[in-house]
Amino acid sequence: MPILITERNDGVTSMNKVSASILSANWLRLGEELRRAEEAGCDCIHVDVTDGHFVSNLTMGMDITRAVCKATSLRVDAHLMISEPGRFIPAFADAGADSITFHAEATAHPFELIKEIKKREKLAGVALDPATPVEAIEHYLDQLDLVLLVSVCVGFGGQKFIGAVDEKIRRLAKMRRDRNLNFEIQVDGGINTENGSQKRALGVDNLVGGSMIFLAEDMKETVRKLKA
Ligand code: DX5
Ligand code: ZN
Repeated sequence: MPILITERNDGVTSMNKVSASILSANWLRLGEELRRAEEAGCDCIHVDVTDGHFVSNLTMGMDITRAVCKATSLRVDAHLMISEPGRFIPAFADAGADSITFHAEATAHPFELIKEIKKREKLAGVALDPATPVEAIEHYLDQLDLVLLVSVCVGFGGQKFIGAVDEKIRRLAKMRRDRNLNFEIQVDGGINTENGSQKRALGVDNLVGGSMIFLAEDMKETVRKLKA
């Protein structure tokens, strides 16, 4: 059965989760990197999937996702930065991802995709590029388990947080509160120990980080600060 993502008392309180984006991991030692993330207290492993079309980068696909799912007991989130995401939902479900997140900009049929994800008993997520307003997904917010706000130029690690995304977090958290919904809010890109707590205060439950986690001198301490 799908994992219950959020159990807030008041619809606002953050769950203080941290996701490790393996885009910045040492891929030659991926097993060790996953263990390091687990031991450091990360809650989820975040797999950035790109196709060289929806975004210009080429990263990971379903085979790596499958290997990651086998190697970790943490929740595995597949962030699909690909065109025609519907074509690949069965493959990522079969690979063992716990959640599948497609980009709102990549489909005209979000209701259908959400149904396909849920049919496979996976958590359904939608991601938004920095320039896409949260209002674009208001008509299917109630169907979602998670919303991922990308806060950098999509597809690449190590960039600076785009400040305009703060207002999107605020608006999304308000929509959740006003409609008494329970989806998880994730923010992805440019998160670090300096800005993490401010994003939590705006309403983020799950901070996704690549470089800040895998390139940290002390991963455990970094995760501790991000969860504080
Ligand atoms: C960006 C990716 C992120 C990326 C974030 O489009 O979706 O998951 O790994 O990397 P950092 O934390 O380095 O900005
Ligand atoms: Zn991502």
